[in-house]
Amino acid sequence: MGKLLEGKVALVTGSGHGIGRAHALELAGHGATVIVNDLGTSVSGEGTGKVADEVVQVIEDRGGRAISDFSDVGNEEQVDLLVERAYSQLGRLDIVVNNAGIVRDRAIWNMSAEDFDLVMRVHVRGSWLTSRAVARKWREESKASGEKVYGRIINTTSGAGLQGHFGQTNYGPAKAAIAGLTQTLSLELASIGATVNAISPGGLTRMSATMPGRPAAVEPDQRTDDEFDPKDPSLGSPVVAWLASPEAGHVSGQVIKALGENISWLRGWTPIATVSNNGKRWDAEKLGSVFAIDVFGTRAAGLRLGD
Ligand SMILES: NC(=O)c1ccc[n+]([C@@H]2O[C@H](COP(=O)([O-])OP(=O)(O)OC[C@H]3O[C@@H](n4cnc5c(N)ncnc54)[C@H](O)[C@@H]3O)[C@@H](O)[C@H]2O)c1
Repeated sequence: MGKLLEGKVALVTGSGHGIGRAHALELAGHGATVIVNDLGTSVSGEGTGKVADEVVQVIEDRGGRAISDFSDVGNEEQVDLLVERAYSQLGRLDIVVNNAGIVRDRAIWNMSAEDFDLVMRVHVRGSWLTSRAVARKWREESKASGEKVYGRIINTTSGAGLQGHFGQTNYGPAKAAIAGLTQTLSLELASIGATVNAISPGGLTRMSATMPGRPAAVEPDQRTDDEFDPKDPSLGSPVVAWLASPEAGHVSGQVIKALGENISWLRGWTPIATVSNNGKRWDAEKLGSVFAIDVFGTRAAGLRLGD
């Protein structure tokens, strides 16, 4: 395989398991030195562990370079230290992949405020904290040199955030916020030359295996199937490697879905139909009728009110 990331340093959060683990292996395979960050929690965010060491070992066994890190992405002090460590130990940080995540699914009537807060904390605050820490570094570099920097942030959103999913009124809004963070941050970082994009991945991981009826997950490097498997959690990793590379310097503020063999460019919240009222304020009753007929197409024209 051609190497897109020689000489680059990449941080992948939550890369001890699943999709993040696959990204770490992919970026290392492209020549990046990877900081394998993982707090080592359960799927719902309990406990800590050293699973990041296992991934570093796999990367080293394959001839790559990596170091492990056990920081909690929701902890401000730990995230700032993590980014400082990248600079002090590896000399730079070019790529940040915000992937760490937890789920605490319940219908809203059974969900505690703690379930809401913890999910928002890891996904939204976590992605924001790493982004702020590295943005500060890149801005300093850009100011000192008077030039644009090489910087790539790749966030992780989800169909649950973009389309909604039952039982996920914490996770869905968190993932929607990450799409919003991506767009806003891409505008801010454009001035210093860094890009910010998001992927919406898929795959059978220990997280998605929590859904009823799913089989147990196998880590991406432990899979033995030779056949193409649409549930392979590494299928989005080539998108991450490309977005992280010099090849994608012109791509920013975008959301790309990687599901199975299909890679799709997504665009959300653009008007699909507009009604105007000839320069006048709308009346609510008339608006409802016009929307039903002309926008939703749900009522026969003969039932139009207020004409
Ligand atoms: N699996 C899917 O189908 C799917 C679909 C869409 C989006 N995603 C997203 O992909 C990402 C990876 O999910 P996955 O399915 O591989 O899950 P996973 O549970 O296999 O991996 C998530 C990792 O994040 C780590 N983590 C959790 N909290 C952390 C914290 N505070 N600090 C550092 N690390 C922490 C966990 O220890 C774990 O290793 C998540 O952001 C998830 O929302 C997954």
